[in-house]
Amino acid sequence: MDLVEIEGLRIRFDADGQVVYAVNGIDLTVAEGQVVGVVGESGSGKSVTVTSIPRLLPKTARCEGRVRFDGIDVLNASAAQMRAIRGRSVGMIFQNPLAYLNPTRTIGSQLMEPLLFHHLAGYQEARRRGLEMLERVGIQNPAARFDNYPFEFSGGMLQRVLIATALIAAPKLVIADEPTTSLDVTVQAQILRLLKTMQRDLKMSMIFVTHDLAVAAQVSDTIYVMYGGTVVEQLNAADLIRAHRHPYLAGLLDSLPRLDRPVGRLPFIPGLPVDTRQPLAGCPFFDRCGVHTDDCHTLPALTTVGPSHRVACWRVAGELVVTDPTAKAGGLSGCIPESL
Ligand SMILES: Nc1ncnc2c1ncn2[C@@H]1O[C@H](COP(=O)(O)OP(=O)(O)O)[C@@H](O)[C@H]1O
Ligand SMILES: [Mg+2]
Repeated sequence: MDLVEIEGLRIRFDADGQVVYAVNGIDLTVAEGQVVGVVGESGSGKSVTVTSIPRLLPKTARCEGRVRFDGIDVLNASAAQMRAIRGRSVGMIFQNPLAYLNPTRTIGSQLMEPLLFHHLAGYQEARRRGLEMLERVGIQNPAARFDNYPFEFSGGMLQRVLIATALIAAPKLVIADEPTTSLDVTVQAQILRLLKTMQRDLKMSMIFVTHDLAVAAQVSDTIYVMYGGTVVEQLNAADLIRAHRHPYLAGLLDSLPRLDRPVGRLPFIPGLPVDTRQPLAGCPFFDRCGVHTDDCHTLPALTTVGPSHRVACWRVAGELVVTDPTAKAGGLSGCIPESL
C-alpha cells in the first residue's frame, strides 16, 4: 500500500450559482520516501488536488472519488482524525510564508506549535528541538532569532522557517506547493537543495507542486503533468527528455530556453487554457493540440505505456508522436539542470 492513493478524484466548486470544474478525475500515488512532482500551468488544478490530502479545501468544494493517506479514507474521516494528521503526519509548505505565519507571534512559538499541539513534547523539549531545527534549515544564531517576529526575516529566511515548522514533527509526507516561486533564483536554488536534503535525511515522502518543469525534474523521482484538471502524463523524471509522449509535454519542453540551440524566438503553445466553468468533454488539450483527431472528442484514459510511465492521449495509443530521437540519455539536453 502506498502512503498516498488518489483514485478518480473529481473536485468542483459551487460558487454563487457558478460551478467550477477544477479537477476532472485524477489518479495519483506517492510511495514511502518518494518525491512526486506535480507540474502544470496556472489553474490546472495542482493546488486543489494536493490540498485534498489534508482535507483543507474550502467548504464550497465538492469532492468525489477516493483519497487515502496512510490507510485513512480522508474524504470520509472524522474531523478529529484529520486534526491528528495535519502538522503531524502531513507537513505543508506554501508559496507565500507571510500568509501562513502569524505576524503577531514569534517565530519560535509558531515553530513549536506542531510539537505542543500534538503533545509530542513539553515546552523545554519543543524549544530545544525548535532551535535545532532552525539551525538545520540554515538560520544563523537560532537562539537570538527564536523570539523574533516574521517581519524581522527576509523572504528566503521566512521560507526556511516555514520548512522548519512543516518538518519539526517529522511528518511522513510533506506537501510543498510552489515553495520557491516568490524567491529570486539564487535563493530558490538554496531552498530546493535544503528541501531535498531534509527529505532524504528524514526519509519523508514529498509532493512538490510547481509550474516549472525544470525545477520539478531536479527535485522529483516521478512527475505528474497536469492539464485542465487531469493528469495527461506520468513518468520518471529521468525519462522526461528522452521518453515524453504527450503533445502538451512536448510543447512545454519545446518552450523552455535551451543552451544547445541558437537563441531566437521561443516556441510557445498557441491557444488558451481550459475554461473550468464547463464540464470537460473530451481531451482537455484538444483546442491547442496540433495532432488531434476525431477520437479526441472523448476523454482519453491514463494508459500505461512503459514501466512507471502513463499517458492520456489517443494518438499515443497508436503511434509515437513526440519523442525526440536526438535527445541524450539521462534526460539532459540543455534545458533541464542536473537533479539534486
Ligand atoms: N475556492 C475556490 N472557488 C472557486 N474556484 C476555485 C477555488 N479554488 C480554486 N478554484 C479554481 O480551480 C481551478 C484549479 O485551481 P488551482 O488548483 O488553484 O490551480 P493551480 O494550483 O494549478 O494553479 C482554477 O480554475 C481555480 O480558479
Ligand atoms: Mg496553485
